[in-house]
Amino acid sequence: MGNLWIDILPLAAGSEERLDFATQKPEALLERTIKASSNPGDVVADFFCGSGTTLAVAEKLGRRWIGCDLSRWAIHTTRKRLLGIEGAKPFEVLNLGKYERKYWMGATFGGKKDEQRTIYEYIAFILKLYGAQPLSGMQHLHGKKGKAMVHIGVVDAPVTIDEVNTAIEECLAVNQSELHVLGWEWEMGMSPYIVQEAKRRGIKLLLLNIPREVMEQQAVDKGDIRFFELAHVEIDIKKAEGRRVTVELTDFAFPYADLIPEDVREKITKWSDYVDYWAIDWDFRNDTFMQGWGAYRTRKERKLPLSSDEHTYDKPGVYTIMVKVIDIFGNDTSQTFPVEV
Ligand SMILES: C[S@@+](CC[C@H](N)C(=O)[O-])C[C@H]1O[C@@H](n2cnc3c(N)ncnc32)[C@H](O)[C@@H]1O
Repeated sequence: MGNLWIDILPLAAGSEERLDFATQKPEALLERTIKASSNPGDVVADFFCGSGTTLAVAEKLGRRWIGCDLSRWAIHTTRKRLLGIEGAKPFEVLNLGKYERKYWMGATFGGKKDEQRTIYEYIAFILKLYGAQPLSGMQHLHGKKGKAMVHIGVVDAPVTIDEVNTAIEECLAVNQSELHVLGWEWEMGMSPYIVQEAKRRGIKLLLLNIPREVMEQQAVDKGDIRFFELAHVEIDIKKAEGRRVTVELTDFAFPYADLIPEDVREKITKWSDYVDYWAIDWDFRNDTFMQGWGAYRTRKERKLPLSSDEHTYDKPGVYTIMVKVIDIFGNDTSQTFPVEV
């Protein structure tokens, strides 16, 4: 090839490939550069991946890939695009927001003080915003709000199932029956299983997101901070002869409804309008989510099926189904459900 490539045209207005992403490039262009500079099995990276053209082409050409972007919209567009590629290998979406949070924590509560002190002040700050009183002398229970004990998750890691269980143990030990856990991120598959499990043990458990506004001085000063319960998913598992299973999505509780601009909210008439895409891993093993079935809205097809295709398990057994719902704002909610076939 010469230096000037004029044989590849920009995407035409009505092109099938077009995703309405302002800077989108034609796949043919990336195909040429990827073929010229890598071999199948190599890793191709685009750290400003936009609508994901590089990654989609890398996937189609049998390369492995890494993509990054700071825009949630870019990630959302890219994810849907990659999932739409027939036979695409499983991939993970990781959120590195914790660096920003760590920086905030250091800048706000750090300084010359020791680490223990920093954590203590961070917890006191979140408790205050939540309207809870600090508690001393406890291991995992940091505060109390009304009748509820409060546990605060750390800034740089997801709240784990073990962590919640330890807090539950401590509640039981001190004869308390209500626990609120506040976290930035959550171990995959945490809810609703853990809430039911807590209920069985006599604890009313509430899981709440710490909103990113806590890092904004203005919002804090205005007293605008609200903590919302985790979104949650309900499904119906239908079993048939021969280890055949279908899943129906029966509810998606979207906690931020009153934060949505009114003109958008007016158009939403039922819970499923919040769902942009949902997918199933039929045999989740506490590792990467492997999509076995999935459905999403496209610009052409706005209707979303709420029942999956049928899945047949090869062997009888107890499996974990993970259902992942991506809402229309690109938030990710994953939940696990056991199934015996
Ligand atoms: C021109 S577009 C991407 C084009 C894409 N590489 C392609 O070839 O089609 C640039 C992207 O960079 C992202 N971006 C800008 N600053 C960034 C940063 N500091 N870290 C990660 N992504 C960033 C933007 O959100 C935008 O999606």
